[in-house]
Amino acid sequence: MPSQKLGTIVVALRLEDRHLEAIRAAAPGAEVVKINGRGEWPARRAELESTVEVIAGVQGSDNLDLASMPRLRWIQTGGAGNDWLIRSPEIANSDVMVTNGSGVAAIPIAEHVLAMMFALSRQIPRFTKSQLDHEWYRGERLAEVDGSTMGIVGLGAIGEKTAEKARGLNMRVLGLRRDPTRSSPHVDRMLGPDGLMELLEVSDWVVLASALTSRTRGLIGEPELRAMKDTACLINIARGALVQEKVLVRALKEGWIGGAGLDVFEREPLPPDSPLWDMDNVLISSHYSHSTPHYNDRLAGVFIENLRRYRAGEPMINVVDKQHNS
Ligand code: GLV
Repeated sequence: MPSQKLGTIVVALRLEDRHLEAIRAAAPGAEVVKINGRGEWPARRAELESTVEVIAGVQGSDNLDLASMPRLRWIQTGGAGNDWLIRSPEIANSDVMVTNGSGVAAIPIAEHVLAMMFALSRQIPRFTKSQLDHEWYRGERLAEVDGSTMGIVGLGAIGEKTAEKARGLNMRVLGLRRDPTRSSPHVDRMLGPDGLMELLEVSDWVVLASALTSRTRGLIGEPELRAMKDTACLINIARGALVQEKVLVRALKEGWIGGAGLDVFEREPLPPDSPLWDMDNVLISSHYSHSTPHYNDRLAGVFIENLRRYRAGEPMINVVDKQHNS
C-alpha cells in the first residue's frame, strides 16, 4: 500500500517528456524525479534514497541498498526478465514489490522469432551472400514452414504471442510451462517441465522463451540437443545461460541439429572470437529482438496503469513472483 502522501517517484526509464507528464498526472502531489538512465543512479542516490517510494528502471543489481531506502515500496523494471533478482537476494527476500515490463516486447520478439525461422528455412543469409557476390545462386532445396512443428519452452507473454503467430502460419504448436494445467488457445498441446524431451524430439523449431532461474540455467545441454531432430533449429530470444553454449557449438558443428537463431548469449556482447560468428547455420542478433518503435509507449502505459492501481490500493499488473524468479 502507498503511504499517506506518496514519496518520491524516481524514473530512470528512457521515456519521453510526454510520458513524464502522464506519470505526473497519475500521481498528483508526488515528486517525480527523472534521472538519466540507470547509470545516473549512483551519482543521485544520496539525494534521493531517504524519500524514494517508487523507483522505475533501476533494479537491485544496479546498487539499490534497501537499508538506506526506508520508504521504498515498489520497483518497476523496464524489461521482461527477472534474473537480476538472482543477484539481489536482499530485494528478492524483502517485501518491496517488483513489477516488470512483461508484454511490452512480446510482438517484436515474436516477429523476430518468425524472421529467424523464415531466414533459416529459406536460406536468406545464403542469398544475401550471393547478392553481395553478384552470383545467381540456386543450391539445395529450400524448406517450408507450413505444417511444421514449433515447440515453445516458456509460455509467458512472448511465448504466447509467438504461438499465436505460428498457428497463423498453419504450424503445429507445442508449449511447455511450469504449470501445464494453465492452457493457451494458441497451443495444440501443453506440456509440463517433464515433457521437455518429448518437445525436443518432435519439434522442427525449438523456441526458448522462458525465464532464467536457478532451475532453468543450463537447461539445454548435450542430452537435450542430441534429442532434437538433425534438421531442427534452436531459436533463443530469452537468456543465453539457458543453453550450454560450448555444447551448442559442438551440436552445430557436428550436425546434431540443423541450425540456430540466437539473440542472447552466455556472455554479451558475444566475444569476437566466439565460433558462433562464423557458422553458416547460425543467425546472430545482438540481444535486440525487443526493439520496436512502440516500446516506450507500451512501457509507460504499464507503469501509469500500475501507478493508478498502487494509489487506489488495487491489485497491480505484471507483479513478479520474486521467490520463483530468484
Ligand atoms: C530483455 O532481455 C528483457 O528482459 O526485457
